[in-house]
Amino acid sequence: MQEQVQQVQQRLHQRLETALDALDIADERLEAAMKHGLLNGGKRVRPFLAYASAEAVGGHWDAVDPVAVAMEMIHSYSLVHDDLPAMDDDDLRRGMPTCHIAFDEATAILAGDALQTAAFEHLSSSALYSPEQALELIRMLARGAGAAGMVAGQCIDLNHVGKHMTLEQLENMHRHKTGALIRKSVLMGAMAASYPLDSHVAEALTEYANAVGLAFQVQDDILDIEADTETLGKTQGADEALNKPTYPALLGLEGARKKAADLCQQAHTALERVPGDTSLLKQLADYIINRRY
Ligand code: IPE
Ligand code: IPE
Ligand code: MG
Ligand code: MG
Ligand code: MG
Repeated sequence: MQEQVQQVQQRLHQRLETALDALDIADERLEAAMKHGLLNGGKRVRPFLAYASAEAVGGHWDAVDPVAVAMEMIHSYSLVHDDLPAMDDDDLRRGMPTCHIAFDEATAILAGDALQTAAFEHLSSSALYSPEQALELIRMLARGAGAAGMVAGQCIDLNHVGKHMTLEQLENMHRHKTGALIRKSVLMGAMAASYPLDSHVAEALTEYANAVGLAFQVQDDILDIEADTETLGKTQGADEALNKPTYPALLGLEGARKKAADLCQQAHTALERVPGDTSLLKQLADYIINRRY
């Protein structure tokens, strides 16, 4: 699996560089900040989920590249903004100084803005999709990224710093801030490769993605406690220092680990209803709860 993860990372790096070149970025400092946020070595889990999902519906990876690139641009923008002093105020990301430390706050805000619009420009410029398919993909990305998805999740997160949350509220927060983009990665990957997507398959994939999306953030919260800063590439203990609502804070470490394992099992079960080759999606579910960074 580690080898496949690395292959996806290389593929993405190359596609992202090409995509950035096509943007005609009209300011050097902005370009450098965007590259810093995008090309500094993320795991590229969301693109990998999109490719694996395409495989599950019998499609080709090539059809998914524009979705993979756009998704990683949105995700990277969300991290650049997540690290800002007004949000989590972090100085380390992917083993490097965060964008606002390497540059400055205003540049980091603008680089995030530009990465977000770049995602939509890139997706809408692809000649691989029919107009209807492209429109549907763009709409899905907008919904996952925006006020019905990730941005709302970030808002819920920040509004609850230092406050108690019920398990239900915590789950709702995670489903938005992390789950939404992961869900869209799975569904957009399948839809990029097979359009229109069979509704039963879409339902099963959604169930898989919901479980995996939540598991991803549960593991992120666990790693914030368990891992060390060097392995993590971001500051260990940041959640506790900021009094963030997390799964381990509510359930304890053991409870959180069990939650992640249960969700992984749910993800596997959901895939039984997908007729294609789901081996890669299964491996990714396992990878997500066993990852060390
Ligand atoms: C970190 O995401 C933020 C969360 C949504 C939990 P990743 O763990 O995917 O970060 P990178 O892209 O690999 O750096
Ligand atoms: C970030 O969650 C989620 C998004 C960026 C949407 P976290 O704040 O837990 O992510 P890390 O731990 O800083 O990567
Ligand atoms: Mg955050
Ligand atoms: Mg953060
Ligand atoms: Mg975190």
